This record gives sequence, structure tokens and C-alpha cells, in this order.
Amino acid sequence: MHIKTILTQTYHDQNPGTSGLRKKVSVFKQVNYLENFVQAIFDSLENYQGKALVIGGDGRHFNREAIQIIIKIAAANGFGELIIGQNGLLSTPAASHIIRKYGAFGGLILSASHNPAGEHGDFGIKYNVTNGGPAPEKDTLAFFERSKTLEHYQIAEFPDINLDTIGTQTVDGVKITIIDSVADYAELMQSIFDFSLLKQSIQSGYMTLAFDAMSAITGPYAKYIFVDMLGAPLNALQNAQPLEDFGGHHPDPNLIYAHELADLMFSDDAPTFGAASDGDGDRNMIMGKGIFVTPSDSLAILAANATLIPGYANGLKGVARSMPTSQAVDRVAKKLNIPCYETPTGWKFFGNLLDADKITLCGEESFGTGSQHVREKDGLWAVLFWLNLVARRRQSVLDIVEEHWQTYGRDIYSRHDYEAVESSIAQEIMSSLREQIQTLPHQTFGDYTVKYADEFCYHDSIDGSTSANQGFRVGFENGSRIVFRLSGTGTVGATLRIYIERFEPDSNKHNQDPQIALAQLIELAEQFCRVKERTGLTEPTVIT
Ligand code: G1P
Ligand code: ZN
Repeated sequence: MHIKTILTQTYHDQNPGTSGLRKKVSVFKQVNYLENFVQAIFDSLENYQGKALVIGGDGRHFNREAIQIIIKIAAANGFGELIIGQNGLLSTPAASHIIRKYGAFGGLILSASHNPAGEHGDFGIKYNVTNGGPAPEKDTLAFFERSKTLEHYQIAEFPDINLDTIGTQTVDGVKITIIDSVADYAELMQSIFDFSLLKQSIQSGYMTLAFDAMSAITGPYAKYIFVDMLGAPLNALQNAQPLEDFGGHHPDPNLIYAHELADLMFSDDAPTFGAASDGDGDRNMIMGKGIFVTPSDSLAILAANATLIPGYANGLKGVARSMPTSQAVDRVAKKLNIPCYETPTGWKFFGNLLDADKITLCGEESFGTGSQHVREKDGLWAVLFWLNLVARRRQSVLDIVEEHWQTYGRDIYSRHDYEAVESSIAQEIMSSLREQIQTLPHQTFGDYTVKYADEFCYHDSIDGSTSANQGFRVGFENGSRIVFRLSGTGTVGATLRIYIERFEPDSNKHNQDPQIALAQLIELAEQFCRVKERTGLTEPTVIT
């Protein structure tokens, strides 16, 4: 193999956030920018010589070019085998599965998840480790440290690889395999869910479906699973063709960005079930006729009903949720008498618990739900879980949710995001919250008395590591909470996320609009952080 060593300029901003390194496409296209970061990752890893690396992305602009670069840098650095999704495509959960299934050393996933794509959009790259999950913080810190001193990278000189044809070839001693992006993942889904029940429920017309792939990665997966395997009509899928710019969509499945689906689900023509996924296929939005299921409730409901699903028939070891996710799943865990863990925001914190077999299901309020089957959150898995539940319980989504609230009470929940806040203002807000946590406890504001106020610090019980500064929590005597944190995935200014929740045990009061039910807490949140006053914004940018 002919390897070139390229002298490069050092970049100082390659600090991975909540989920990999995400920047504007124009930043990634700077000379040697991607090359440097890939080399920094490989320099920080050990003992991968001769082993396999999985490569794939969500198909956004720059995906193919990036893959060709990665192939050559991986070959030059000594990987023995490269496993690549056809056309360069792999959803995040499928990549996680493929790393595990083929015993690869790790994988590079090219995605900026739900951030918009295209020439003026975002690009991203994240490294996943041998268990199929996102690299832990100690690794991502090492990548950043290495990137700050990197002076050259190594790249093999051979022609571009054809990414479109399935098959194996050996190039200068490196085995390069282009695999079907969907087949392995579909087989995994079949091993978890009752596909014959699903097929019968769909083909008999008992269950009708609308799935919005938002012109991103899940289109081909949804087509194969819902249409080819389960017999749904093709018109059950919307935006199923992955496009480099995601068709101009903001592929974040929530009521705002997936409003076409939401409008349909609240109309008279609504099918039984509606769902959407995000850019790289790890998020899910679940809807039924006339109802949107909040991700926090969805996690709780999946946990409460897990034994109805073949793959979880033996019950759950435990569950976990990210800190800002509502406490609905905690109530289910208590009833099932299983542990419930609270982790910082970001999927990487679930990996150890899953590997140690402490938990079976986990999730985040940010439309992410998953289980032991892979080490990433998984959008289509959540959709299939819900479909299996509807088919098995022969109840509508609305009835399932309302029955759940009757049994456990409702954790009324909402998240308010203030996007593109000037970084200095965001820092000011954070420091003022840091000061207030000393004085807030025991103070009373209307119906709410502060029980505790702290900055969340996580101690990983498996590897003993500590992750500090994970957001401010204000908890009240009646179990309500307000959480404040800054996003670690944005690319423009800072995004302040405010998470608000209140428990409502009385089933006569369950059908309230969360914005009204939470009004007092929303006001208190502003009183504590004064984001509106400081920024001049009158409303949150996004409410979920
Ligand atoms: C956001 C979500 C978080 C999720 C991450 C990656 O991160 O809040 O739950 O794990 O995207 O999908 P944030 O921007 O809040 O740091
Ligand atoms: Zn995603």
C-alpha cells in the first residue's frame, strides 16, 4: 500500500459534543478538517490493527466524499477490514447493530442527526466503540486533546471505492465489504417483534399506518420493513426517499418539524398509528389518532407493557432515563420492582448499564428510546414496539395512554428551547443559576416550595467515572421539577433547554394542555433564569 503522510494545520475547535463532532458543512470542508479529526480519533485508539471498522452515514451532503476520505485514512492506519453500508448509508441504530453483529472494532457514523443538511446545513461524525455504542467521554476528550496537537495524518493512495455495489474486494491488503444497509437490521427487528401478528393486523386493515421518514435515512428501512415485509401500502410512507439536503426539511420528529404528520393524525382521516424518525434514524415520534405521545410517557408505557413483546417476554432487568426525562418511567419501575437509573443527557451514558445487564430499556425526553438490542437509541424499533403493542392489546394508542395515566398518574411535561442565544448570555444564565442553587431550597413560590436545587453530577456505578455540570435541577416538595441545561449539539450560538414537569394523580385532570397545566412552573422558570428578559425573546423557539 502506498501511504502518504500529509503535513496539516492544527484545528482547535474539534471538541465533540453530546453526540459526536457537529459543525457546518463549510467548516468540515475546510482543508484537512475531516482528515485531522479522523486521524485524531485513530491516534487515540489502541490495538485496532488488522481489525474491522464499520462506516456509514445518514446520506446528507458530503456523506460520500467523507466516506472516501475515511476509507483511505483507515487503510493507512492499519485497519484490516472496512464494512460500509451500500451507497454510504447506515442509520445510527443499524450501524450500532452491524458493529456488534460482525464483531468490528468500532465504527464511524457520519451524521448531524436531526440538524438540517445540504451545502449550508450541518455535517457530523461520531465514533462508536466495540459494544456498538457512542464513544464514552474519556474517549471523546482524548480525540479533542489529540486534535489540538495533530500535525500530520496518513492517507492511502488508491482510487475511490465504488460504494453502490454489494460485495467484497481486497484493496492493497484491506478487505472492503459493501453490505446491504437494511437487511441485518430488519432481521434483528424480526427477532424481537411478532412480525406475523403485525403482518396480519396491517393486512387485515385493523391497523393503518403513516410513517414520515422526513427525506432522511429511515426511508429505505421503512420501505423494506413496513411495505415489503409487513404488507403496508406504499402510500403509508411519506418522504421515504433519502435526499442529500433532506428535501429542505428539518428532520427532527416533533410536532413542529413533523407538522404534516401531526396535522394528519389530528384530522378525521387519521390512520390508527403515525410515526416519524429523524435524520439518522435514532429518534422517534409516536402518534395515534388524535394523540401525540410524549417521549417520556412512551418510555414508561413501553416499560409497563414490555412483556407483551416476544423479545422482552422474560421481563426487564431495569430501566434508565436521562435526567431531564420525566419521572413517568420511575413509577413503572417502582411497580415492577426493578431499578431505575438517572443518567446525564446523551446516549453514551446508557452504554455501561446496558453492557452490565443492569437495564433492558432506556430513553430520553428528546424522542429517543432504545433497548439492549443495540447501543444507540432506535427510531424504527420504537415504532415497531408501539405497533406490536397496539396489535397485541387491540386498543388504540389513545386508550393505551389514557389507561396508563389512570394506573400511574400523569407526569405532565414540556420542554422549552431557546435557540441561537448569544453564548455570553447563555453563560450568564448558567452562572446566575449556579448562584441561586444555594439560596433556593425551602423558598416558597405560590403552590411550589423548593425541596432541592443542585447541579447534576453523575457517578457511573459501573466504571466509577464522574460527569459533572450536567444541568441545574430545581425540585419541589410536590414532586414537580424544573431543569435547565445548555445543548451540546447546536452549531449556532447556544441553546438553552428548560424542562418542566408536574405530577397529576387525578384522572379527571389528565386531559389538560401541558402549557396551561404547567403555567405556574413556566413562569417560575423564567423568574429563575430570566432568559426572555436577557435575550428579548418573547417565546421559546421550540416547544415540545
Ligand atoms: C440532544 C438531546 C439529547 C440527545 C442528543 C443526541 O442533545 O437533548 O437527549 O441525546 O441531542 O440526539 P443536546 O442538544 O440537548 O445536548
Ligand atoms: Zn439522531
